[in-house]
Amino acid sequence: MIEAHGREAVVRQRYAAGAKERADKLCCPVDYQSNYLEVIPREVIERDYGCGDPSRYLRAGETVLDLGSGSGKICFIAAQIVGPKGKVIGVDMTDEMLELARRNAPIVAERLGYANVEFRKGRIQDLALDLELLDRQLKENPITDAASFLAADELAEELRCKHPLIASESIDVVVSNCVLNLVEPKSKGQLFAEIFRVLKKGGRAVISDIVSDEEVPEEMQSDPELWSGCISGALTEEGFLAAFESAGFYGIQILQRDVDPWRTVQGTEFRSVTIEAFKGKQGECFERNQAVIYRGPFKEVLDDDNHRMERGKRYAVCDKTYNLYRKAPYEKFFEFVDPIVAISLSEAKPFDCSRTSLRHPKETKGQD
Ligand SMILES: C[S@@+](CC[C@H](N)C(=O)[O-])C[C@H]1O[C@@H](n2cnc3c(N)ncnc32)[C@H](O)[C@@H]1O
Repeated sequence: MIEAHGREAVVRQRYAAGAKERADKLCCPVDYQSNYLEVIPREVIERDYGCGDPSRYLRAGETVLDLGSGSGKICFIAAQIVGPKGKVIGVDMTDEMLELARRNAPIVAERLGYANVEFRKGRIQDLALDLELLDRQLKENPITDAASFLAADELAEELRCKHPLIASESIDVVVSNCVLNLVEPKSKGQLFAEIFRVLKKGGRAVISDIVSDEEVPEEMQSDPELWSGCISGALTEEGFLAAFESAGFYGIQILQRDVDPWRTVQGTEFRSVTIEAFKGKQGECFERNQAVIYRGPFKEVLDDDNHRMERGKRYAVCDKTYNLYRKAPYEKFFEFVDPIVAISLSEAKPFDCSRTSLRHPKETKGQD
């Protein structure tokens, strides 16, 4: 049995051992694209504790953050997809994993002919705090009593603001492979908020993780083996998507869901899913006389701002919604109707996005 506050220590211990020697029990077999594995040293590939492949959804030139990067495998694959103009940052809290990944980074860079990957030490639920920087400062001012404990707390806050490990709005894509489940329940809300914070507006999260088909019972959550083995910290399938929604993401979808469970424990099925979620629906709404038509095939749809639209009908939307729909993941589902007389953004009046209304064709044609 573990106490709630001991879960992180158990995770650290288990993955410190897993960095030194392959732990078969932690593996959920994944078919990575083999052409990207050629330049990656064997020990990195051997210590693969992932459950999916978020790297498949990356594009050239992107800045990518990998949460819980472990041996660095996803980072080294991502490095090849984003290319020399892109950048990859791996964050992990376990020294042994960081050592393994950092030792192999120059080998991969030499084989590729460019270096675009770096590994940083931090907890993924607190991406502003650089743990190596804090370590260095605490060596100079060790915690010896209550006063120095409180001072250390203040120091951590100052580091978060002045020297964040990952700056706000600096990342195009946050990826992660089988790590979010390892974060304690009380920090899960903060974890999703941190993913949201570091993404640029228009950025996205592509996350592979283990989810359960039923709520995980309390007693399973205190089992150290099941907790650190990516089982008992799993969110439910529904809860996983809802967590992204609550954090402010939109356009959330399941990209991949394993039909067969990876493991079944006490009747609960645990399987791998890969999901995608976008950041950027926040902001003001302006009227520019634009309209959209939902193409189908469903009779009606409801978006993350509660716009309900029936197939084939012409709806008035604000400029923000219009532009969101023109991009992934929506663009293939809509037809777009521009007004015949364009209204510039500076002239545009506020648009009430709280209700969905139809737009008469005459409005866009300007023939009232
Ligand atoms: C299941 S392994 C996955 C490693 C890697 N993503 C892969 O595909 O092989 C989990 C990794 O996440 C790290 N980790 C777990 N919880 C973490 C947290 N709260 N903050 C940072 N790293 C964490 C562990 O140290 C370990 O390297």
